[in-house]
Amino acid sequence: MKAALLVESLTGNTWKAADLIADKLQQERWSISGMSSVGQPDLRAIQEADLVLVGTWTHGLFVVGQAPFGAPKIANLPPMRGKKAACFLTFALDAGKSIDKLTGALHKTGADVAGGLEIKRSHLDEHTDLFVERLLDVLHPA
Ligand SMILES: Cc1cc2nc3c(=O)[nH]c(=O)nc-3n(C[C@H](O)[C@H](O)[C@H](O)COP(=O)(O)O)c2cc1C
Repeated sequence: MKAALLVESLTGNTWKAADLIADKLQQERWSISGMSSVGQPDLRAIQEADLVLVGTWTHGLFVVGQAPFGAPKIANLPPMRGKKAACFLTFALDAGKSIDKLTGALHKTGADVAGGLEIKRSHLDEHTDLFVERLLDVLHPA
């Protein structure tokens, strides 16, 4: 299986999460067709991929008004009808309902969204492990 990753990041945590996810998928014998920013998506990588993973970060006032950064850009990614997708969202303290908003934005591309997970910036390794584990469970139920 092949995955493309699309990332929105201000200070690097979401890129780190994406790198960890890519490494963990490769350990599961996946290949990565490309990793690019949401703003400049690698169209060839998306086209080649069986699965597109989109990651961004939580923007808000920490306890209220949280939203996934760049949600309109994500909703306006090239149409991905029929393509499987999933999303992840880094946060510091409280992401509110950002993951639901991110899933909704990704749905607007027409992708078949398998789900999404919040990844706490202080627990990148553990939470990316969990993300990959759940992703593989959803894609290949026992
Ligand atoms: C302007 C700004 C607003 C933020 N608002 C929130 C917030 O409301 N809730 C939260 O849990 N984290 C918040 N964060 C923390 C970021 O979501 C977190 O550090 C994230 O991992 C940043 O990802 P990045 O390093 O890829 O840019 C905020 C960060 C910034 C810079």
